[in-house]
Amino acid sequence: MKRFHDGGATTASLCRGHPTPRQEPAVTTVPTLTVERPSGDDFVPTPTPALSWTTVTDTPDWVQTGAELRRDDGEPVVLEGPDSVLVPWPFAPLAPREAADVRVRVRGRDGGPGEWSEPVTVRGGFLAEGAWRAEAVGLPGPTAVAQPGLARTEFEVAGEVRSATLYATALGAYQAVLNGTDVDDQVLKPGWTAYQYRMVHETTDVTALLVPGTNALGIRFAGAWATERYGPPGRQRGFYAEQPQVAAQLVVEYADGRLEEVLTGPGWRVSPGPVVASGIYQGEHVDLRRRQPGWDSPGFDDSGWAPAEVRPSPVVPEPRRSPAVRRTEERGVVDVITTPSGGTVLDFGQNLVGRLRVRVRGGAGEVLTLRHAEVLEHGELGTRPLRRAAATDSCTLAGTGEEVWEPEFTFHGFRYAELSGVEVDPSDVTAVVVHSDMERTGWFSCSHPLLDRLHENVVWSLRGNFLSLPTDCPQRDERLGWTGDIQVFAPTAAFLYDTRGFLASWLRDLALEQRHAGGVVPFVVPNPPPRTPPRPAAAWGDAACVVPWVLFERFADRQVLADQLDSARAWTDVVVALAGERSLWEGCFQFGDWLDPVAPPDRPAAAATSPDLVATAYVFRSAQLTARAAAVLGHDEVERCYREVAERVRTAFLAEYVTPAGRMMSDAQTAYALAIAFDLAPPEQQQALGDRLAGLVREQGYRIGTGFVGTPIICDALTRTGHAATAGRLLTQTENPSWLYPVTMGATTIWERWDSMLPDGTINPGQMTSFNHYAFGAVADWLHRCLAGLAPAEPGYRVLRIAPVPLAGLDHAAAEHRTPYGPARAGWRRDGDELVVQATVPPNTTARVRLPDGRELTVGSGDHAWTCPARAPAQPSTPLGLDSPLTRLVDDPTGYAAFFEGLAAVDPALAEDVRAHTRWVPGRTVEELLGRKVPDEARADIARRLAEVGSRGSG
Ligand code: BGC
Repeated sequence: MKRFHDGGATTASLCRGHPTPRQEPAVTTVPTLTVERPSGDDFVPTPTPALSWTTVTDTPDWVQTGAELRRDDGEPVVLEGPDSVLVPWPFAPLAPREAADVRVRVRGRDGGPGEWSEPVTVRGGFLAEGAWRAEAVGLPGPTAVAQPGLARTEFEVAGEVRSATLYATALGAYQAVLNGTDVDDQVLKPGWTAYQYRMVHETTDVTALLVPGTNALGIRFAGAWATERYGPPGRQRGFYAEQPQVAAQLVVEYADGRLEEVLTGPGWRVSPGPVVASGIYQGEHVDLRRRQPGWDSPGFDDSGWAPAEVRPSPVVPEPRRSPAVRRTEERGVVDVITTPSGGTVLDFGQNLVGRLRVRVRGGAGEVLTLRHAEVLEHGELGTRPLRRAAATDSCTLAGTGEEVWEPEFTFHGFRYAELSGVEVDPSDVTAVVVHSDMERTGWFSCSHPLLDRLHENVVWSLRGNFLSLPTDCPQRDERLGWTGDIQVFAPTAAFLYDTRGFLASWLRDLALEQRHAGGVVPFVVPNPPPRTPPRPAAAWGDAACVVPWVLFERFADRQVLADQLDSARAWTDVVVALAGERSLWEGCFQFGDWLDPVAPPDRPAAAATSPDLVATAYVFRSAQLTARAAAVLGHDEVERCYREVAERVRTAFLAEYVTPAGRMMSDAQTAYALAIAFDLAPPEQQQALGDRLAGLVREQGYRIGTGFVGTPIICDALTRTGHAATAGRLLTQTENPSWLYPVTMGATTIWERWDSMLPDGTINPGQMTSFNHYAFGAVADWLHRCLAGLAPAEPGYRVLRIAPVPLAGLDHAAAEHRTPYGPARAGWRRDGDELVVQATVPPNTTARVRLPDGRELTVGSGDHAWTCPARAPAQPSTPLGLDSPLTRLVDDPTGYAAFFEGLAAVDPALAEDVRAHTRWVPGRTVEELLGRKVPDEARADIARRLAEVGSRGSG
């Protein structure tokens, strides 16, 4: 079976999370232990970190019967049974900075115990209650809003140091420097949280950076998210802070037991640094003439610096749980373009998120300017979609020779950059990719190159929009934690990367924002512009119920369900109250099936599916998930209550929106998909709904008709009702709108709109047009679960569901996922008249398998392969001609192509019009479609082309 490669997505050197499987065949049973450590070092954010381990064994069908955990040289703690994922810490809680070496060994039915695992060192990365004492410091009398700066102090180290630990945070973004060396390789620390309620600190081991005698601790800082101006066009304003501030607490423990602390506060000195101005949206301006060499080393003369302004910390920070943001990849220039206006634009070949690093030489005072854009339009940078975001970095040179410059406190979404002001060799420009450094865990590949590229685009959109928080887009004056976007994308994300810590951290902010809004989940989390109380919106606020459930389903994380249960309940209560006595949520503001293809560019909510229908479907979904979460947690009474609510809503939904014969009141793709995929409709009605959905998709020429709500679930709804072939046509469609249309237009990320770029190469006229929005990429979850056939059947993949859906036109497809139990794979390939299905089931799990020929079986761990007959695609029985029904033509891709070739040869505009507007129904013939629009001669030509297809055999 094909091996998968990371594609360079995770380049950090420290090994974190679930381990890479051993390549050599194991001779015995060896577990590998992992502990969640957000920054990749030893520090853990809680005194009782959960423990997980995977086992490599050469014994097939291996199931763990027990395990032993040992801390340092203590007595092992014996555990009975199969649990190996997120096992509660069985030792005394860690104290702050206390270190422990933990190992595990396991037993199976084959005997044991096996070998002890390698030890994992964990250290308490939190402070004791009340121990945070640092005061925040900033520039006194800043000369501009959001002025970046430097802060420093010196301190003495006298004696042998056992450890030195730095706790630091910022209302803004910062990097700490000890004796001239950055304390770590993280960027944009501490990221964006709902600062008014929750701040996080980093914990860093800086022991190796201390020197005997005088030491210098410096901090570079800027405003980043904290001083950004948020809000709709024309109404933006600063929210969290006018000026950035930083706080740090360095704890030095000496070998003789002394403990000394260096705290930001009075006595610190500050100065504006070389960063003149910096903003997430605007970009960064640096004046290298303002560099002060040695400012971060001992002995620097800071008499010209001002005493820091001391400000009380707004909230006591907690340890960060989300993975660090890092530079994860670098990419060089692939093309140098001279634009029609004479500018020089560098193409990096990939729409990415990060910034440029430039090696530059020039005279003092010369200014190098970098402008960024995702696309070109009419050969120039297409910056209109950035709206108010200038996305421009600039650097005033010092003229002292070669300089290497990379902006520090900003990021951009771009593929192209225009350089001006100073001549730079393109080979001296590097695009630096920046995002939350999660472990890559999922891969997919198949025989269809465009689908492979689509999948790659999903991965890139995930990377670009998982930068400290899950955002809608990374480039324009938005980059917000839109709840609806992550609600639909969370399952895909959880397959591709280990998103658990990242999303669990974001959910804490969601719950806090919600608590201050009477249970309403704001549209965005964090929610910066609360001028008016947040309003609820279906499919957006439901992130409170859906995202924790996804984390449970994919990672077996019960804790996140427990932590978020109140939030899920509060949201459900809000929407149930709005649904009122009729149990229908109607007549309120909704985003609905946002951005479906019929919505005009300037009215993205004007979808084909009723927003009220979407809203009530989601009331059901959230009530149901809340009930399920309560059941998992053993809250029986709560479970019963929400189950009853869900049933009431289901009854109301069916009565209002579904006819007994199986039609939806919105006869639109998303409406059917909701009724089927959310299990709203009873089993006896599902088939009729599925049949109508498939009919509708065909009627619409196998082009997608869904927005944010329907897109993630339409292929599931089709597959579940026996219409996998229709899902396949939809998936492999390249006409606009479709998943692959952007790929044919050269997209390297997922677009916000189906047609963010129009077929003529101009940017969609809507004012809201991004080329890096992951929502429509949520179909990748279906590629993994169904096309390749790798899904969790029980939380955390303790039981796998292996049920591939081979599609016509594809020769193979496969997915690999590092489950919490170890690597799992599933896939299939055609081999002559047969289909070979292969699977790898990790030790300590089992798999329920359904083969394409209908066989159902259950297997244990190990590598498996099965062969089944490949069902030949049904050949259309009737020949194709002008008298054929339109459904016959649209179902025959070769005939369909021949028809349009013929029509385009006569009149290309007519061909486009027919393509876009035809309803492909059974009661009309090709002849009727052509009507009087086409001269006789051309009609004969089309007839001949169709007949030829018939004689060649259609596809
Ligand atoms: C964002 C979306 C978001 C939507 C909701 C947009 O501006 O980019 O992705 O979900 O607004 O209305």
